[in-house]
Amino acid sequence: MRDTEPNAVLECPFGKFLLQRWPESVNDKLRAWDAADEYLLKHVSEQVHTACRVLVVNDVHGALSTALHAWQPVSWSDSAVSFRALVENCKRNQIDSAPVTVPSTEAPLGTYDLVLIRIPKTTSLLNDQLAKLRQLVHADTRIVAAGMVKHLQKSAFVALETYIGSVTTSLAVKKARLVFPKFNESLEVMPPVTSITYTDPDLGFALENLPNVFSQDRLDHGARFFMSQFSKLPDVKRVVDLGCGNGVLGIYWQKDRANSVVTFIDESYAAVASAQRNHQRLFDPNDQKYSEATFIAACGLEGQADESIDLILCNPPFHQQHVVGQQVALSMFADSKRVLCKGGQLWIVANRHLDYAAPLKRMFGNCTSIATNNKFRVLKVVKR
Ligand SMILES: C[S@@+](CC[C@H](N)C(=O)[O-])C[C@H]1O[C@@H](n2cnc3c(N)ncnc32)[C@H](O)[C@@H]1O
Repeated sequence: MRDTEPNAVLECPFGKFLLQRWPESVNDKLRAWDAADEYLLKHVSEQVHTACRVLVVNDVHGALSTALHAWQPVSWSDSAVSFRALVENCKRNQIDSAPVTVPSTEAPLGTYDLVLIRIPKTTSLLNDQLAKLRQLVHADTRIVAAGMVKHLQKSAFVALETYIGSVTTSLAVKKARLVFPKFNESLEVMPPVTSITYTDPDLGFALENLPNVFSQDRLDHGARFFMSQFSKLPDVKRVVDLGCGNGVLGIYWQKDRANSVVTFIDESYAAVASAQRNHQRLFDPNDQKYSEATFIAACGLEGQADESIDLILCNPPFHQQHVVGQQVALSMFADSKRVLCKGGQLWIVANRHLDYAAPLKRMFGNCTSIATNNKFRVLKVVKR
């Protein structure tokens, strides 16, 4: 382990681990774990005395899987950023074996003796994961869920009782709590809602949304305002829908412009799968006007070549799990500067109270306000 500032080292019964969030940022003062992770690890060390098959669910920055690496846990999550953080944290701690990761749009193979769940922000994701989890456990599987008390909503307890069985809880320690659902094999379980499809009159087409997709049951107001300005966009070929969610922006762009190539990128596997399903349903590859698309689960524009894109459309995120802030949006803008070709444009929509014009102007040397209403603003920058 390398020397570093003390608050970046997780000290737990399984050892000391140097951990960081992803994407790495020198200004990032937040730790890659919280008291709920510490509580879970302490509980496991006290209750589980032999190595067993472990499934770790929604490990936000890979702290749990890194600490339990000797048991070769399988990490199951909807987040490409979480998997990236896990890979980097394993490398940082000289852990040779590559972590096993499974997107939550798929189910891990086999059955598990120990399942550790960080309760996610979105209940639709938890419902979906718990329904799938029933096939991955046996009568003696120990299941432990955890969260910070302020984030534990009643709906999470309802989900655990609906899909797993009755629950008991621990005392709160450092504002974190453990929840123990008892697996009830004979529980009668209704299948969860696996996707929601809505048709918005402004769009004129239907959009399917898997669990955990942003604005799962209706068109986001920011996206609606953004699309009202699309007639002002330049007519170019290589486009990225960055943070694509269900793909609404890129699909709306392509509907009117044949022969463009759109790359749909999101860190959520469910979002990317939804965008892909929607594109497949709405575009016919045999049509002469067919527009190509690729779908990528990744953190921002990681992996995209420098100066390769003409236009980036982005309705940026304002939180990562429970952490609210501009950091992800700002790193998307910096990525955009690298990936846009000369003369290429980044267009964003954002809440008016978020002052993105100033950082964009600092990065690109220009920023034009295209339109504003009482809540949102559409901004454009050009790479010079
Ligand atoms: C405000 S939503 C916009 C979704 C969609 N474009 C729309 O307008 O309805 C922001 C999206 O960014 C995604 N996101 C968050 N962090 C990301 C990251 N680091 N890289 C890529 N996408 C990210 C979220 O999963 C979410 O789908």
